[in-house]
Amino acid sequence: MIRKKIVAGNWKMNLQLEQALELVKTISNQSTDISNVDLIIFPPALFLLEIDKIKSQLKVGVQNFYPKENGAFTGEISIAQIKNCGASHALIGHSERREIFHESEEFIKQKVDAAIIHTIGVIFCCGEPLHIRENNSQFTYVKQQLIDSLFHLSDDEILKCVVAYEPIWAIGTGKTATIEQAEEMHSEIRSWIAEYYSQEIADSISILYGGSCNGTNAKELFACPNVDGGLIGGASLQAESFITIARSF
Ligand code: 13P
Repeated sequence: MIRKKIVAGNWKMNLQLEQALELVKTISNQSTDISNVDLIIFPPALFLLEIDKIKSQLKVGVQNFYPKENGAFTGEISIAQIKNCGASHALIGHSERREIFHESEEFIKQKVDAAIIHTIGVIFCCGEPLHIRENNSQFTYVKQQLIDSLFHLSDDEILKCVVAYEPIWAIGTGKTATIEQAEEMHSEIRSWIAEYYSQEIADSISILYGGSCNGTNAKELFACPNVDGGLIGGASLQAESFITIARSF
């Protein structure tokens, strides 16, 4: 079963417009020969239109949106609007949105549904905080996140999703999951997809690792049979490290 390999860059709330455009140009110039990996960047949404003009083979997504069609939601951006400005993917369920912005499982589920309706590719983020890992409850915790907000989808719908496992204790900390920890969780996630859907569907869905993934550790992480790529934070802000990661398969 050939799954899509994906390297995605979550820029979070970083960079000014000029720096962002420079980064897009460099990444796209230096990745013209990379044909076996989908590269997706998640810049601040304000920059979408300018990036859309120069993105060439790169795919572009949003870090956030509001799951209503339109209306009185001051400050929010709808999925139709972000699609209109060139986005094809969305991050949903990122731990920073869950923790800092108190996004609930139910709200995350609504976002998943809105993205599916508008044919936006879902990168569904899940992952446990440190105290859950220390209790050895990470499998129950992550499985529940998937059950609560993703596993209501139909077979056809879930096939449009990518799962990103990001242990919270590894995000921005420089403390990557070991290859054993990453492979173990990814293989569990795949087995839950098989349990709720089918083995065939489970084998088709890409599962990305995120959390202090960089040009040095990507190679061994991506060599794990159930790791199909990465969701990169800090190391996606520089073309060189992002490209090195993209070449790590
Ligand atoms: P870092 O790669 O900076 O740890 O961030 C990971 C992440 O949160 C990507 O969404």
